[in-house]
Amino acid sequence: MPPHIAHDPDHRLWVLSGPTSSYVLHLDDEDRLRGLHWGRRLTPEQAASLLERPLPRRQFEDPTDGALALDAAGGMRYGHAAVQVRFADGVRDLELNWTAESRTDDTLVLTFADRHYPLTVEAHFKVYADTGVLERHLVLRHTGTEAADGPVTVVRADSATWTVPRLNGYRLSQVHGQWGAETQLSRTELPYGETVLSSRRGTTSHHANPWVMLDDGTATEEHGRVHSCALAWSGSWQLTVQRLPTERVTVSAGFGHAPITWQLPPGAELRTPVSAAAYTEGGFGGASRAWHRYLLDHVLPHPGELRPVLYNSWEATEFDVSVEGQSALAERAAGLGVELFVMDDGWFGSRTHDAAGLGDWTPNAERFPDGLGPLIDRVHELGMRFGLWVEPEMVNPDSDLYRAHPDWVLHHPTRRRTEHRNQLVLNLARPDVAAWMYDRLDELLTKNDIDFLKWDFNRPFTEAGWPDAESDPEALWTEHVHNLYAVIDRLRTAHPHLRIESCSSGGARLDPGILARTDQVWTSDNTDALDRLDIQHGFSQLYPARVMGAWVTDSPNPYTGRSLPLDFRFHVAMAGVLAIGGDLARWSAAELARAAELVAAYKRVRPLVQHGRQYRLSSPGDGELSAVQYLAPDGTEAAVLVTRRARRFGHADPALPLRALAPDARYRDADTGALHHGAVLLSHGLPLRLAPQDNASALFHLVRED
Ligand code: DGJ
Repeated sequence: MPPHIAHDPDHRLWVLSGPTSSYVLHLDDEDRLRGLHWGRRLTPEQAASLLERPLPRRQFEDPTDGALALDAAGGMRYGHAAVQVRFADGVRDLELNWTAESRTDDTLVLTFADRHYPLTVEAHFKVYADTGVLERHLVLRHTGTEAADGPVTVVRADSATWTVPRLNGYRLSQVHGQWGAETQLSRTELPYGETVLSSRRGTTSHHANPWVMLDDGTATEEHGRVHSCALAWSGSWQLTVQRLPTERVTVSAGFGHAPITWQLPPGAELRTPVSAAAYTEGGFGGASRAWHRYLLDHVLPHPGELRPVLYNSWEATEFDVSVEGQSALAERAAGLGVELFVMDDGWFGSRTHDAAGLGDWTPNAERFPDGLGPLIDRVHELGMRFGLWVEPEMVNPDSDLYRAHPDWVLHHPTRRRTEHRNQLVLNLARPDVAAWMYDRLDELLTKNDIDFLKWDFNRPFTEAGWPDAESDPEALWTEHVHNLYAVIDRLRTAHPHLRIESCSSGGARLDPGILARTDQVWTSDNTDALDRLDIQHGFSQLYPARVMGAWVTDSPNPYTGRSLPLDFRFHVAMAGVLAIGGDLARWSAAELARAAELVAAYKRVRPLVQHGRQYRLSSPGDGELSAVQYLAPDGTEAAVLVTRRARRFGHADPALPLRALAPDARYRDADTGALHHGAVLLSHGLPLRLAPQDNASALFHLVRED
């Protein structure tokens, strides 16, 4: 296997390669780092031949504008600058000299130093031999030693600028959303100028998600070249997609948002989060599969693990929790085959509604007179693991924690405070708050046999002040996230069996940064299976089914009032980590019996859904039929989940050709025994035979025979 990172010192080139793709860096004679190539795999010799194609020169243009992989502000470049600083004397231009290179087979660090000021910038790269996903982050360091050197103010430090090659058009894929309607996919022509996707909320947000894909406008689900990138960060962020009139396109991904800056005193450094990028040739499906593999194998903390079937009590009881009520739900859940029972909000302090108790993480003495032990024991006796809801970064003003530490919340003494959902955000950047949070959760986990935390975050930052900060108060935006990550990492080390679900009023904290330390994500508070089809379609563009929490809830749905058949609700939720969130006390015996069958069916295909390769056969936007296929990593089994909203009279269901099967193999339907030829399934599709009524659905499980 050739090295994944090859260096050609004569041409000042580095070729960073995955199995089928390369990213080529070139240092020009002014030490500017160009992104020379991002596309199919090239040898160093092939890459060097690109230098025979100089950038076109135009009057009034710096030819490197929009072509740099380390795009520092300065000179005649007027586009988005990925690295922007202000030195103590007010100078904002950077002039970087290349000073060092260090390299292994799969990592590369290129170091630059300002010609005059005490600042170095390191660009760190890492390639993954199996997936072709490439990571990059920066380290900015103030190399001065004297106070007289003055601070350096960092205005922007994008983790990476990915230079897209010249295409015959540019189409941008992204997701937008809101509470209850996260990850809505849109694909639109990329306009000239800067398209900025961002969160200014202190968290990833419902409204956008930190990734984009770019193609030339002709890619389809399974064909075509796609350039994509994502940012691993759970605070405010900004992705700037720039299309210059010269048709040069870059994507620059970084944390923070204007006008928040970072102050670097002498000796200090700023380390950015990772931005990852992938070039793929199998259409949007191929791009998604590359991201799924990367996240499953290199980002998630327990890569090989199967997520259990979960029950969550929120929609059944909301704040009205008790040992008796939860035990009754647990008994019914166990009967369905549930493996992890999660008690949601309402178990602690004076939290009998959303206006009190947040921050007081001890069991409510009236509801749990003997603590959580009896309920946890009952759940364990029933053969399930026990999970608990927490929202550690928040406080209700009506709480013992707030009364003891009113100064612990984000606030400006001169401004009114927004008490969204009757709560305030704790200033987790404060070391005392971070220490309190770790100690309190560690105590909770040590005293109780808790297997799983649902870690919620229900309101964004507002009036984000830190009046008694000893240094730069704006550091809170970054330090909140660093301390969140550190608390979770420490808890996981101290309690290795602990698994965590990331939740933020549904799916507002979904990103590769939180996925590096949690096991699954709560996708949306909207559990209506029809709405879920769109949400899950957008979710799946980057994130694998293995992290997509999906509950089957009651019908009519409590949020939308829509009635849907039990099978339909299950088949939609089976496309991720199946869970049940309905009020089981109200489910009929027939519903419970059918639910148990469907849970068992899910468990049979779960390894394929959670760890297999995903093929979106028909998307919700394509028409009435939505279908997803999952193929076992070794190709021996496939599962297909199909839903059809309505069928017009006289119209047959469309054919559903499957993907990536072996044409010469035969596949047996594990439920009906029917035998299909691979070649026929690939070209003519799976006979669906769905029931004629609206909202029909099915799960097919195919096992290779030979
Ligand atoms: C928001 C979450 O998304 C819900 O699932 C539930 O946990 C509530 N918070 C509880 O307050």
